[in-house]
Amino acid sequence: MGQAPVVYGQSERPPRGDYSRAAGDYTCAQDYAAYTETDHDTYRRLHARQSALLPGRACAEFIAALPSLGAHDRIPRFEDINARLMPATGWQIVAVPGLIPELAFFELLAARRFPVTDWIRTPAEFDYIVEPDIFHDLFGHVPLLFNPVLADYVQRYGQGGIKAHGLGACELLARLYWYTIEFGLIREAGGLRAYGAGILSSGGELVHSVESPLPQRVPLTVERAMRSRYKIDSYQQTYFVIDSLQQLFDMTAGDFAPLYAQLRELPEFAADGGLASATPAAPAPRNRA
Ligand code: PHE
Ligand code: FE
Repeated sequence: MGQAPVVYGQSERPPRGDYSRAAGDYTCAQDYAAYTETDHDTYRRLHARQSALLPGRACAEFIAALPSLGAHDRIPRFEDINARLMPATGWQIVAVPGLIPELAFFELLAARRFPVTDWIRTPAEFDYIVEPDIFHDLFGHVPLLFNPVLADYVQRYGQGGIKAHGLGACELLARLYWYTIEFGLIREAGGLRAYGAGILSSGGELVHSVESPLPQRVPLTVERAMRSRYKIDSYQQTYFVIDSLQQLFDMTAGDFAPLYAQLRELPEFAADGGLASATPAAPAPRNRA
């Protein structure tokens, strides 16, 4: 999340993207010519595997919107997606070299511009990659930007992020992002479904999150999510469940400033839901693929 000196999540490694390509706001042109046939094939195979896992596991809004990404046999061109996304919800996607600093990230979201990493994982990383790549960012995040309610939620998250940055509360707000936009579950008439991008882009976690008896599944409250630490290198041990995207939007409408002040005084929950010590957790990344 931070930049120069950059804190890219909790990873020791520098991010792999070429940041010299990026403008001051960290966006760059999608380097379409750079994709190899192997890259296109990796995207096609990831898309096929993930699509087959969606029924009964992904939320209805996601399944309805997925075809809007267009062709799935090659990496899509961002301009083609934007030609459909802009008229649908006023959002556009912009290419970035990888994770970007938190304030730059919030400012893009507040302007309804969603940053999408333009490079794809290697075949060796087919099942798991530490930092977000184009498959996570596109397949996981972009379909629900076609949904008007989630589209508004993500913009308001960006606006709230700019405010939290000024209040030194980004760590608390990042946990809400993690437990909703990245790893959120929703209860539908047919059962539990995923709406979080980190789940929807992961073959293993999509099954685990809705079917495994192991993780805790807690009704979402903003307070509890903000007090809950999380793991970036394993399946989540705790998921937060909402009843509808509208409920998520309504639940986050109030001013968080007083809440931040209050929560700083309260103990945190460990990733497995137990009470953690009062030591603050390490700065949190916004993403995991
Ligand atoms: N209501 C939050 C605030 O006042 C902003 C926000 C909205 C944050 C939606 C997250 C999601 O800071
Ligand atoms: Fe993500």
